[in-house]
Amino acid sequence: MDKACERVRKGKNLLSSLQPRNRLLTLSGKVTKIFEKARAEGRKFLLEHEAKTVCKEYGIPITALKIAKTAEEAAKFSEEIGYPTVFKIVSPDVIHKFDVGGVILNINSREDAKKAYNKIVENVKKHKPNAKINGILVQEMAPCSTEVIVGAIKDAQFGPTLMFGFGGTFVEIMKDVSFRIAPITEEEAREMISEVKAYPILRGYRGQPPADIDTLAKILLNTSRLVMDHQEIKELDLNPVMVYEKGAKTVDARIILE
Ligand SMILES: Nc1ncnc2c1ncn2[C@@H]1O[C@H](COP(=O)(O)OP(=O)(O)OP(=O)(O)O)[C@@H](O)[C@H]1O
Ligand SMILES: [Mg+2]
Repeated sequence: MDKACERVRKGKNLLSSLQPRNRLLTLSGKVTKIFEKARAEGRKFLLEHEAKTVCKEYGIPITALKIAKTAEEAAKFSEEIGYPTVFKIVSPDVIHKFDVGGVILNINSREDAKKAYNKIVENVKKHKPNAKINGILVQEMAPCSTEVIVGAIKDAQFGPTLMFGFGGTFVEIMKDVSFRIAPITEEEAREMISEVKAYPILRGYRGQPPADIDTLAKILLNTSRLVMDHQEIKELDLNPVMVYEKGAKTVDARIILE
C-alpha cells in the first residue's frame, strides 16, 4: 500500500470513532449520571475514577482501575489488574492527592499492596483528619514515556477551548502549548500537536521511536466532543498522558464543574 493510501485508511479509522451513533449512546448514559451524582453531592469536581470513566466513555484511553474498600481487596484488585499498580486516595475532601501522601506508585506484591493501602489511609488521616475516605483507587501503573497534557477551559468569551502541550517542566518553563476553540476538526487537532516547539520529540529523535500521533489527535478530537457535549465542564486536565509508540494512557484526569 502506498503512503497516500495508508493515510486515507488511517483517516477513516479516526473518523469512525466520531460517528453520531456513539454520540447518542454517550449522551444518554453513564456520563450524565456521573455529572448528576457530583452535583447531588454538592461537589464542584469529579473524583479521579469518575473523570477517567467519563474519558473512557468518550474513547480517551485511561489506566485500568478499581476501587478497593479494604486492604485485602486492594491486593486482590492489584493481582487482577497486574503488577505494578498505583494506589490513590478517593475522597471528596482531597483534590491534590499527592500533597497529602495519597498516592503510592510501583506496588509490586500482595504485601506491598496491603501496606500501601494502610499507609495511604494513615497519611490522609494525619493531613486531613476530617476527610471522608471513600476507598482507595487501585490502578495499572503506566510505563514511563513521553508525557503530554491535554486540557480544556471554558473561556468567558469563546466558550470551551482546548490546550495541548508537553508534560512537566516543558509546560511550566517553556509555555510550549497550543490552543484552539472547540469544536475542532481532525486537521486542527493535528495542527495543535505539530505546532508545539517540542514536536520533534514526538516524531522520534536520536533513535527514539516516533510517538503515536494518530492516537493523540483522536484524544484531542474526543476531548473536544466531551467539552462541547457537557458545557458544565469549567476545566479539564488530562495530565499527564503517557504517549507510546502505539497508543497512549491518561494517568491522571481532573474535571472541574461550573
Ligand atoms: N497510573 C499511573 N501510572 C504511572 N504513573 C502515575 C500513575 N498515577 C500517577 N502517576 C505519577 O504520579 C504523579 C502524581 O499522581 P497524581 O497526578 O494522580 O496526583 P495529584 O495529586 O493529582 O498530583 P498533582 O496535583 O501534582 O497532579 C503523576 O503526575 C504521575 O507522574
Ligand atoms: Mg495530577
